Amino acid sequence: MEYNLRKAEPKDVPDILRLVKELAKYEEMEHQVTLTEQELLEDGFGDTPFYHCIIAEIPGGGASQDSKVVGFAMYYFTYDPWVGKQLYMEEFYVMDDFRGLGIGSEILRRLSDLAVKTRCTGMMFVVAENNEVSIQYYKRRGAEDLSQEEGWRLYRFDKSSLVKMATPTEV
Ligand code: COA
Repeated sequence: MEYNLRKAEPKDVPDILRLVKELAKYEEMEHQVTLTEQELLEDGFGDTPFYHCIIAEIPGGGASQDSKVVGFAMYYFTYDPWVGKQLYMEEFYVMDDFRGLGIGSEILRRLSDLAVKTRCTGMMFVVAENNEVSIQYYKRRGAEDLSQEEGWRLYRFDKSSLVKMATPTEV
């Protein structure tokens, strides 16, 4: 099946949110998605983009058939003070009917090209421990499980913890 990979544009925001929700549903955490199209638009396409996306699209067939966005990866750059620049892959998803066609591998190739070109020393990502299919997919491509091999645990300060620690604002 023919498909194209390209950089996301502002017009892709509805499809990006649709795919974010599909992936969250796949991970049985759809209720945690509260982001809006407006926020995605401002955060990804303003003066300082906080994320970037590669879009996988099936071209439309003729005048009557629109192209269809069927997969994506969301990424950004982070910094590791031990080894330097890192690419962080935040989301990676291909719709069920379009899996197994090589689209995911091609997205990973694009991300790897970008990482090598920008002299990143690695690409980080988080996988739910029950997503065994994807864990094996990543491992076949050389991914290491840092939780197991180095003992790192993922932590978060949620908004209420941040507000407690932050400077109180005058009312
Ligand atoms: N469905 C799924 N996987 C299939 C398949 C099918 N119908 N047919 C074959 N596969 C196998 C292939 O053998 C291939 O494995 P290999 O290349 O290591 O041998 C792999 O699954 C599919 O590779 P590819 O076609 O390059 O990737 P993809 O386009 O299917 O995308 C994912 C890969 C992980 C993005 C996609 O499976 C997905 O969206 N999964 C659900 C969401 C998810 O878990 N995302 C990652 C969150 S961390």
